[in-house]
Amino acid sequence: GKPVVILGIETSCDETSAAVIRDGKEILSNVIASQIEIHKRFGGVVPEVASRKHVESISGVVEEALEQAGVTLDDLSAVAVTYGPGLVGALLTGVAFAKGLCWSKGIPLIGVQHIAGHIYANFLSGGMEPPLIALVVSGGHTEIVHMPAHGEFSFLGRTRDDAAGEAYDKVARSMGLDYPGGPLIDRLAQEGNPEAYLFPRAWIDEESMDFSFSGLKSAVINTLHNAEQRGEEIVQADIAASFQASVVDVLVEKTVRAVNKTGVRNVVVAGGVAANKGLRARLTERAGQEGFHVHFPTLDLCTDNAAMIAAAAFPLYAEGKFHDLDLNAIASLSL
Ligand code: KG4
Ligand code: ZN
Repeated sequence: GKPVVILGIETSCDETSAAVIRDGKEILSNVIASQIEIHKRFGGVVPEVASRKHVESISGVVEEALEQAGVTLDDLSAVAVTYGPGLVGALLTGVAFAKGLCWSKGIPLIGVQHIAGHIYANFLSGGMEPPLIALVVSGGHTEIVHMPAHGEFSFLGRTRDDAAGEAYDKVARSMGLDYPGGPLIDRLAQEGNPEAYLFPRAWIDEESMDFSFSGLKSAVINTLHNAEQRGEEIVQADIAASFQASVVDVLVEKTVRAVNKTGVRNVVVAGGVAANKGLRARLTERAGQEGFHVHFPTLDLCTDNAAMIAAAAFPLYAEGKFHDLDLNAIASLSL
């Protein structure tokens, strides 16, 4: 039959992105306009600035995505857009733009939950079919999700305080590194000694699949402060490696718990921290030892992008699950 061509739009945080995906899996284009250089100056994302930049960029980014894909608006089967969670002003830019396109072309609108999008990034690179365990690790979320079928999610565990990416960014900031700090700490960690410092690991209790990173964050910040007060030199690579070892240890072992508890032996990893080299190596190693499968998105699809949003919309399109044109952005939309 006719191919299903979905335009995806993502504006939940600091990337304005548009992508065209054919039949749920084939990326025809994935354009990402990053605002990182702007937000770096402030050490984090400034919501008002983000909204204004999305408004400035969105139509150019969508045009470029269509052009690179070699399609026109008339070729589109549907438009998919992130409608939460995220910064409400930022989300609204994408939602309003998507609604306008759907109204003018008379095509279906599909609202996508951002975290579902991150999970579906796996399907763009030969990921596995449900039932799945998804380890979600982004700047705003850290969760272990059981996904028995497409579109069905239940939580096995979640963070009780900071998200993993947030802990990376805060620790990086205290080390004087730029925003976002995750990739920089990851790079430094490759050259450091992960046993130089013994930072805490919050297991919570033997059964729990919940996370807590605020104690770890404080421990790193205290170590830095104490060293500064005593006039001691610290080796940044050792701090980075020891911090990363603590984060990765807990993420990986709780994922192993989820596999053993549910008997679901296919694991996908989702969100910006899925790009982390230490996490990829250790989880792959443990999967080999424990005899389960693990899949990571390609590096460019770990952080925010519209290709994953269009991919997540594909099964919804197939089931005719569309939204009305009164779709609203929801800052705290859950899976
Ligand atoms: O999923 P994402 O692009 O945005 C959210 O939805 O939050 O994730 C961004 C987060 C940031 O906190 C960033 O520091 C982190 O992902 N991140 C990493 C790496 N690459 C991005 N954290 C650790 N290691 C990385 N290589
Ligand atoms: Zn994200």
